[in-house]
This record gives sequence, structure tokens and C-alpha cells, in this order.
Amino acid sequence: MQASQFSQRFEKLFTARPSIYRAPGRVNLIGEHTDYNDGFVMPAAVGFSTYVAIAARPDHKLAIRSEDFPGDFEFDLDQLPPRRTGNWCDYVLGVATVLLQHGCELAGANVLVHGEVPIGAGLSSSAAIEVASALALLGLAKTQLPLVEIARLCRRAENEFVGARVGIMDQFVSCMGRASHAILLDCRSLEPKFVPIPASLQLVVCNTMVKHDLATGAYNARRAECEEGVRYFAKLDPSIRALRDVSPEMLDQHGRSLPETIWKRCCHVVRENQRTVEAARALTGGALTRIGELMRESHESLRDLYEVSCPELDLMVEAAQGLPGFCGGRMTGGGFGGCTVNLVREENASDFAAQIAERYQQATGITPQVYICSAEDGVQALS
Ligand code: GLA
Repeated sequence: MQASQFSQRFEKLFTARPSIYRAPGRVNLIGEHTDYNDGFVMPAAVGFSTYVAIAARPDHKLAIRSEDFPGDFEFDLDQLPPRRTGNWCDYVLGVATVLLQHGCELAGANVLVHGEVPIGAGLSSSAAIEVASALALLGLAKTQLPLVEIARLCRRAENEFVGARVGIMDQFVSCMGRASHAILLDCRSLEPKFVPIPASLQLVVCNTMVKHDLATGAYNARRAECEEGVRYFAKLDPSIRALRDVSPEMLDQHGRSLPETIWKRCCHVVRENQRTVEAARALTGGALTRIGELMRESHESLRDLYEVSCPELDLMVEAAQGLPGFCGGRMTGGGFGGCTVNLVREENASDFAAQIAERYQQATGITPQVYICSAEDGVQALS
């Protein structure tokens, strides 16, 4: 997107010159449903972004508009609604609320949003708007916070204001993403390790174009099941605070007394953590065959043990098998639809994209969207 044209459109609406901020969506290479278990994830920011333009206004109001969604919202910063309003503007409002609670002094502002992250595709359009809004509101208030703190506050906005009990992964990578790198993130310490993605590889993201309704309810149900697992293991060893602390040996030794469903969820999380740490090592060492195996195991585990895949995602993963240049692929994000992520050799990426689209279309009758991406930088001030 041309920042200068976005700026002109803002000026037409609000008759002031804005500052513009950009925050990206993400794909997760491996480490799924581990973030809220204090575990490991390995996402990368990608080239889809949400843009937020902002300029001061003389009163103490926050006006919010979007170029993609209807609504002309205006709120008094002294009396923001205590919880979600059910509109898209909740992401901006939630961030403003949390920043005020954190003690930031926000100024009255006109805000215009332009989103290019596909919505409902599991590529974190919500984290992108939250992070870009946070930077915009803080920039206007001339307040600086560390990016990790901004990620935490944006997650809090989504948890407490919007009402989705998500983990920290999406907001973190939208803040801290680095071009040509994935981030191996320890979601307990929030310490990132930047893992270079070989220049010979592209991230090919395949959108199944479906989103099944169970997504939010099932997400919260999985979280509750993990918490039940933690309660069981904590009785055996009080130092266990999250599934992150359960070793594979402990799982093998004691896990079978758990109800079947809880056991399956725990197996996924404990082994997915191991796979993620190993995948980071493999990527660093250029062991592409091993990465491919780990991504495949991750997908199978999400399908069979964590039960968050769906027929369309499974078909898209199958459709990649055997295509030239394919190194590994799996579903990415929360599941029940959305996208798969594939590591593909650069010289094969456009043929791969065309062929996987054709195979998926033949199998499902649905035309998918396929994006050839690379890892990009996190949030930025553009002007
Ligand atoms: C969603 C959430 C993340 C993470 C993934 C699953 O994207 O926003 O915090 O839990 O699902 O890995």
C-alpha cells in the first residue's frame, strides 16, 4: 500500500496530516496451541499488514473509522465502554482501554484503519490491528514502551476487552518480527531467538477459504482441557505450573490415568514443545528433511490428538505432498479452517502455488487463495 495515498485519504476525512503505523500478520511454522501452555512457538511475521493513520484532535475524544468496514465511531476517552461493543472497532478501543489502565496519558485522536491481512484466515489480522493501534496511540501521546510490553498489553486487550483467551504468540511476532527470520519464542520467559530462514526457501501460505464456527468455543474448550491436565500433574509434582513443565517421561508414566481426551491434549502439547525446539535447531542447521518430518508430525498431532484440524486443512496438507520443491507443511494458527504453511524451494514456489491450488480446487470445489510470502519485519512507524 502507498502510505502517501493513505495519508491523503486521511486528510480528506479529518483535515489533518496523520502519522502512519504498520503492523504485520503472521504464520506459525510450528508450535501450535503451545503458547497458552507456557511453551514454545516459532512464528514469522509476513508481508500482509494493517495500517493505522492517526492525528490529534482538540477534544478528548477517540474517533475510529476503517476503509474496509462500515461505522463512524466516537468515544470519550474519559468514559470508554468497559467491555466489547461487538464492532470491529473493539480492537482499537480495547488497546486504548488497556493503555489507559496501564497509566498512559492518551490524547484525543482521529484514527483511520486500512487492513490487508486476510480476515478470518488465521493470519492474525486482530493482532495486527491491535499492535498498529497501540503504536499509533502511544506515538501521539509521545510515550515509549518496550515492544515486549506492547505485545503483552495488546494480548491483554484481546483477553480482557475483546474476550478471546488467546496466547501471546500473535501480538509478540507482530511487534518483534524480523525480515528473513522466524522467532523461536519461549512463551514463559518471552525470550526470543531469531532463527534465520534460508534464502532458498519461501513460505507458501494456502488459504482453505473456510472457517468453521466452532473456532472460538473449541479454542476455549482446549484451554480448559489443558488446565485440567495441569491440575492432574500438579498433584503428582507441585512444581508443575503449566503443561510446559510436564516431561515426556512423566506423560508416559502417569498420563494414562487421565481421561482419554485430556491425555490426548497433553500428549500434543508436551510433544509439540519438543518438536518446536528441535525444528529451530534443524532450520538453523539447514536440516530440511527433518523440518519436513516435524511439520508433518505436528499436523497429524493437531488432527488426531488436539482435534483442531478439519477436512479442508487435511486436504490442503495432502495436496502439497510430492510437489517439486516442497520441504514441509502443516496447518497454521488456531485451526478449524484458515491456512496451511509450506516451506518451498524458491525456484519452485510459483509452480507449487499453481499446482496446490488446482489440486485443492479439484478435491473440494473451492478456489483457494495462495500467497507466496517471506518473513518480514514487525511493527513500524512509516511517517
Ligand atoms: C491463535 C491464538 C494464538 C495461539 C494459536 C494456536 O492464533 O491467537 O495465541 O494460541 O491460536 O497456536
